[in-house]
Amino acid sequence: MVGVAGFEPATPASRTQCSTGLSHTPTWNAAYSLGCRSPQAAGLRKLITVNVGLKTQILPAGEAAVAVAARILAEGGLVAFPTETVYGLGADATNPAAVARIYQAKGRPAFNPLIAHVGDIAAAQAIARFDAAATALAEAFWPGPLTLVLPKTHACAVADLATAGLDTVAIRIPAHPVAREILRAFGGPVVAPSANISGHVSPTTAAHVQSDLAGRIELIVDGGPVAVGVESTVVGCFDAPMLLRPGGVPRAEIERVLGRALVQPPADAGTDSVQPLAPGMLTSHYAPRARVRLNTQRLEPGEALLAFGLGAISGIDAASIVMNLSERGDLAEAAANLFGHLRALDSKGVRTIAVMPIPNDGLGEAINDRLRRAAVGRE
Ligand code: TXA
Ligand code: MG
Repeated sequence: MVGVAGFEPATPASRTQCSTGLSHTPTWNAAYSLGCRSPQAAGLRKLITVNVGLKTQILPAGEAAVAVAARILAEGGLVAFPTETVYGLGADATNPAAVARIYQAKGRPAFNPLIAHVGDIAAAQAIARFDAAATALAEAFWPGPLTLVLPKTHACAVADLATAGLDTVAIRIPAHPVAREILRAFGGPVVAPSANISGHVSPTTAAHVQSDLAGRIELIVDGGPVAVGVESTVVGCFDAPMLLRPGGVPRAEIERVLGRALVQPPADAGTDSVQPLAPGMLTSHYAPRARVRLNTQRLEPGEALLAFGLGAISGIDAASIVMNLSERGDLAEAAANLFGHLRALDSKGVRTIAVMPIPNDGLGEAINDRLRRAAVGRE
């Protein structure tokens, strides 16, 4: 912690309420009481706020980084690490104070439940109950970019704060070797939302994490760019399995394993006014600062173009900048580039990002879902 001359660390009386409603001793933006000793100055005694940045270590993925990550997690710290979908911001799932720090670091709405990442099916079964459909999906897609929402077991050790008090828990076994090593070394469930400021574009490189969360978390493990690029598909294993969030496993593949169509969530679940079934469904989410205009056929002068394929588009000569999600029209490549390209265009300070139409099949459903959320309130 950075000290300030003449100031003393806050007493417990200056503990504050974080967005989750939990009392905590802040580790940054910490309140310091003014240590005035003279009688005249005593009347000036007051609380002021200073920025106390954590030092965020960035380590290249490897044995040493995995060991440091496991130790920080065990101590209640926050570690960003690569998964195959996006970078996650991990904390010990069983430690409510560590979980609270995730919400605090991300500035995340308190009602957003988190995904518990585990290393193997036995660890998953210790925290959630699997029916036949869940077992079939786990066998087909784990490790991989699928999250299952399941009833908690009685012994479920995941903190209530991480499941937002629900009697269900979201679980996934990630495929990324670095994520798997960290889970193995730590030896317990790790809750991890995407490692970005809440509502911002999800991170697909360590540099993205750094630009959002440096000074707010203990460690970033740099495992290079991720392979999938959109978050996991979230399936609620209710009486009828429900697609809560399209993602890295296309709907059709899941339906093939289930032998039935996935049910759609109720129409009002995607608004901010009700507690969402999967708050990744918040209407505005994944948002860059720029306005996002979808299904563009014609570019206005000065707009940035987020292209897909090599199809013609009128007005392209007057584009301020053009980035292509996939020149060869490959949806997997487009998914991997999506958040990075949105961030890159946003960092140029463009006012509008116009996006070419993207087919809705396969990974296109997840890409279009994220783009619609990026566009909300800005169209
Ligand atoms: O690919 C991913 O899923 C990434 C990586 C890091 O694993 N994680 C991620 O987490 O995207 P997050 O927190 O951004 O999204 C979790 C989603 C949200 O839509 C949340 O509402 C939903 O899962 N979710 C979690 N627990 C739930 C529950 N018990 N019931 C319904 N939805 C739940
Ligand atoms: Mg997220």
